Amino acid sequence: MLVHQDIERVLLDEEVIKHRVEELAAEMLAKEDGRPLVLGILMKGGLVFATDLFRCLPVRLEIECLNVSSYHGGTESSGEVRFDLEPLEGHEGKRLILVDDIFDTGLTMETLKRACLELGVGTVESCVLLKKKKEREVAVNPEYVGFTIADEFVVGYGLDYAEKYRNLPYIGVLKSEVYTCCE
Ligand code: IMP
Ligand code: MG
Repeated sequence: MLVHQDIERVLLDEEVIKHRVEELAAEMLAKEDGRPLVLGILMKGGLVFATDLFRCLPVRLEIECLNVSSYHGGTESSGEVRFDLEPLEGHEGKRLILVDDIFDTGLTMETLKRACLELGVGTVESCVLLKKKKEREVAVNPEYVGFTIADEFVVGYGLDYAEKYRNLPYIGVLKSEVYTCCE
């Protein structure tokens, strides 16, 4: 496998990710209750993961793309979550699953979950491909987690650093000199 020169090491390769995505889809299907299903994709990080995930869900579902950001270019959460939930208007009473790439401080998911419930969506679950192992202040925990990883900055498979590396088909740890030189 050809590995990008800015990647220190590959954490999860394509095959491992694919297998786990299929398992996550099966977990979601096991909870099917006949209500209309809506996948809310947190853009842009959740994009690659969600497109693989929803192709493993052979049920009637709708997809909405939600513009969300909390990093604003760096490698640490800014602590401020910006979002637009307009695409979710009109989905009252449905089963919504928010799909994101990674659960870090948890602030993004907690903020969005609360806002979606306020909108009147029936139930809100969340699904993340990655969850960082760390202490958190938030009360929310994703219902579906692909992998728990160490608390280090990763890119690929939708995850970016300054909008780069989203297209890598694997998840890897970025060489620290790539961001220490520019921040
Ligand atoms: P949280 O609000 O701290 O949970 O941050 C979640 C968001 O931060 C995710 O949607 C990602 O966009 C971004 N993020 C957190 N950790 C990483 C990382 O290691 N690489 C790339 N993006 C990350
Ligand atoms: Mg994100």
